[in-house]
Amino acid sequence: MIRTFAPGDLPEVLDVWRAGGRDPLPAAELDAVAAHAPELLLVADEPGAGVVGVVVGTTDARRGWIHRLAVLPAHRRRGLAGALVTELERRFTARGLTRVNLLVLPGDEDAQRFWARRGYASCPDVLRTRDLA
Ligand SMILES: CC(C)(COP(=O)(O)OP(=O)(O)OC[C@H]1O[C@@H](n2cnc3c(N)ncnc32)[C@H](O)[C@@H]1OP(=O)(O)O)[C@@H](O)C(=O)NCCC(=O)NCCS
Repeated sequence: MIRTFAPGDLPEVLDVWRAGGRDPLPAAELDAVAAHAPELLLVADEPGAGVVGVVVGTTDARRGWIHRLAVLPAHRRRGLAGALVTELERRFTARGLTRVNLLVLPGDEDAQRFWARRGYASCPDVLRTRDLA
């Protein structure tokens, strides 16, 4: 079942990110996302197993952004990431957004195949970033 994140899901969500080799989103950032657009923070909840997948959506008023998609290794290749992204795309569309972006590491083969299969084109843009504090 794909549903909106609830605060009690936090420990399981952190486990999903860690199991996927991802740094968990810092708690303050997660709180900020949940406060800004709570319906864009989604989990995959399997009966008997609990939270096995997560995705974070944000918007910059023009576009949707997808972050931190992950599914527990034992639950992969069953369409859960696809279901999370389909629901997130539906919620972006309901907000009137017509484009969605995301960043993925070049060497991340599973993720590259997943996004390519879903029709996400790669762009030549180079991300530049700088700490403000
Ligand atoms: C990438 C990830 C989220 C995919 O989760 P998933 O639940 O296995 O994905 P789905 O089952 O919805 O896959 C849908 C389709 O994507 C493609 N795909 C997904 N994982 C793939 C892999 N390892 N190799 C090849 N194709 C893959 C397939 O076409 C798949 O459909 P199929 O199983 O019918 O062939 C998961 O591997 C993961 O958590 N990886 C670690 C974290 C990560 O890389 N996150 C993405 C950050 S951008």
